Amino acid sequence: MNVTHLYCSSCGKEHDARKLINLCECGKPLMVAYDLERAASTLTREALAGRVASLWRYREVLPLEDDRNKLTLGEGMTPLLKAERLGAQLGLSNLFIKDEGVNPTGSFKARGMAVAISMAKELGAQKLAVPSAGNAAGALAAYAAKAGLPAFIYMPNDTPRANIVECQQTGAQVTLIDGLITDCGKIIAERKQAEGWFDVSTLKEPYRVEGKKTMGYELAEQFNWELPDVILYPTGGGTGLIGMWKAFDEMERMGWIGAHRPRMITVQAEGCAPIVKAFAAGATAGVDVPDAHTVAAGLRVPKAVGDFIMLDILRKSGGTAVSVTDDELIAAVKEIGSAEGIFAAPEGAACLPALKRLLADGDVRMDDRVVIFNTGCGLKYLEAFS
Ligand SMILES: Cc1ncc(COP(=O)(O)O)c(C=O)c1O
Ligand SMILES: [Zn+2]
Repeated sequence: MNVTHLYCSSCGKEHDARKLINLCECGKPLMVAYDLERAASTLTREALAGRVASLWRYREVLPLEDDRNKLTLGEGMTPLLKAERLGAQLGLSNLFIKDEGVNPTGSFKARGMAVAISMAKELGAQKLAVPSAGNAAGALAAYAAKAGLPAFIYMPNDTPRANIVECQQTGAQVTLIDGLITDCGKIIAERKQAEGWFDVSTLKEPYRVEGKKTMGYELAEQFNWELPDVILYPTGGGTGLIGMWKAFDEMERMGWIGAHRPRMITVQAEGCAPIVKAFAAGATAGVDVPDAHTVAAGLRVPKAVGDFIMLDILRKSGGTAVSVTDDELIAAVKEIGSAEGIFAAPEGAACLPALKRLLADGDVRMDDRVVIFNTGCGLKYLEAFS
């Protein structure tokens, strides 16, 4: 395959890609490097036409060595839908929704877990563990079942019920904690050695980003190799943001796209907006949010291990970070649903009030090509609408 090595996103140290690994010794996330010249010899824009309609169509830039370890439930290649009616309401002629809610397990977390659990299996993991705001847990449970590996999941006890039930029904062992995702993460960190768990926390292993980056490849392909001007992304741990940015870089190095980059916009909830606050303060790391709260469970990430990478991307892309209230994001679910027929997750819907603000401030123009990421399916959040 085309992987050359892993490298640290902070200190740059290189690591062997053929063994199970979490963070760099310096405590920061590891990324996957490829021989892109070699990848590009068989992965061409033209070759994609006949390939499978899942993220595995980008096989040469995915890290798996042996196809027998590939786990798939049909993740990726989600629709990029033109939002004509919603766009008209906002005065935008080119508004699109990338609908990640149609992925297996109802969210974009399936992408990251499909690749991460395939790799964990290939590299010999015996037991898998994750702290989760909800959807990552559902995705881990599903792919662990497919792999025939046990999954140990720690979630806050007020996680949406659908997430808890789906994990149980796909055979995972679920523990509910009176605390936040960061507290769940601490428990796993403390126990993993004794239990023999491989920790698949966001950005604490190198391969979930590789699955998530395929959103960037798909956008380019679906836009006929011209990236949009603006991407709004509901941000928790930030794997999708970091992954898409990596994909853009890889595609440019393979000669598929030019240097133009979308302005990347992080959207967070006011009750948990560490990246928005850090961006506004000119800081290079997220501020810690001790009393994090929002109904958009996936945005309740008070401290992200990849915060410094996200902040760098937002600035390099000429983007920004916006927070919205829970009332705004819940109202936006119905606005999107009634205009476009998409029952969005509250996280994805949060992009709409953020977009309205950016339009009012002149940060997004009427002729910009804008993409909203609906990262999950509203059906998983029924209690948020009672
Ligand atoms: C529906 C949904 N949207 C967005 C996010 C945030 O994603 P990321 O961690 O990639 O920033 C999550 C995370 O749990 C989620 O479940
Ligand atoms: Zn390092």
